[in-house]
Amino acid sequence: SWKMEDFAQKTIQELREKIGDGKALCALSGGVDSSVAAVLLSQAIGKNLTCVFVDHGLLRKDEGDLVESVFGPDGPYDLNFIRVNAQQRFYDKLAGVTEPEKKRKIIGEEFIRVFEEEAKKIGAVDYLVQGTIYPDVVESGLGGESATIKSHHNVGGLPDYVDFKEIVEPLRYLFKDEVRKVGLHLGIPEKLVMRQPFPGPGLGIRIIGEVTAEKVRIVQDADAIFREEMANAGLDKTTGQYFAALTNMRSVGVMGDERTYDYAIALRAVNTVDFMTADSVEIPYPVLKKVTSRIINEVSHVNRVFYDITSKPPGTIEFE
Ligand code: XMP
Repeated sequence: SWKMEDFAQKTIQELREKIGDGKALCALSGGVDSSVAAVLLSQAIGKNLTCVFVDHGLLRKDEGDLVESVFGPDGPYDLNFIRVNAQQRFYDKLAGVTEPEKKRKIIGEEFIRVFEEEAKKIGAVDYLVQGTIYPDVVESGLGGESATIKSHHNVGGLPDYVDFKEIVEPLRYLFKDEVRKVGLHLGIPEKLVMRQPFPGPGLGIRIIGEVTAEKVRIVQDADAIFREEMANAGLDKTTGQYFAALTNMRSVGVMGDERTYDYAIALRAVNTVDFMTADSVEIPYPVLKKVTSRIINEVSHVNRVFYDITSKPPGTIEFE
């Protein structure tokens, strides 16, 4: 749309004037908002922008590589990209922790620590870039439902920890669909721009009980299969959010003539207007059966698959 093209050109120009030869730092999650913010900044100030991408080991399958392929040295943008492979650090911190709020706190705090360390290495930056969009501004103003029910982990909480002069939030007056239009206009791959929301704490809030590297591998593989089959069935564009989660339940099953004692995967798919309420999606039974049989056959240590039809409320969208 013309409006969003104008927005992009105008914003790049304004950022260039404002920042001049200053240096900017961006915490890049690979989500739509921080990606679009990063590209706007990159077009405005090029190499004076550094993007730090923290792989906390709780990303979807192959996501770290996808982000690196777009923003890293082989991608189309002329920016400094730092990928921090902090997986083991997060797993060590999460070992033995089962309480959901505690897991969120650990992930959020460790994220800030890792980011802060990288920021220190880079030295004084003038501007910190954030992908805040209009609904974030409104929600934090009102306190928001999520603020009281669970502690939200977003990159929004960083400023206190990093030495910088000013925050830049080029998307603060845009809604999500507008951010997506800007992203497509800027040439960010559709795979990145059109994707469903993914929470900051990542798979940490899709694994019940203790988070371990093995459980992460199980959820990643099951989730990749579910997403692939949703796309094959043409349901990916019409479904608000859908993913696999790992229940902490193990039960007896049979595979060939062997007894198994393995995990149960839960699938979740919801449609929602504002993520405050949500309804489960009526996925056609053949799709569910296909996903189930693929997960059981392709992902080791899973012997059951459930489909969660709970709406929100009383459930939440995530599975923690
Ligand atoms: P719930 O589970 O509260 O999720 O029904 C509502 C929406 O919020 C997302 N979500 C988060 N997003 N940081 C995020 O950036 C978080 O800590 C977080 N927790 C939940 C969730 O994916 C859903 O879209």
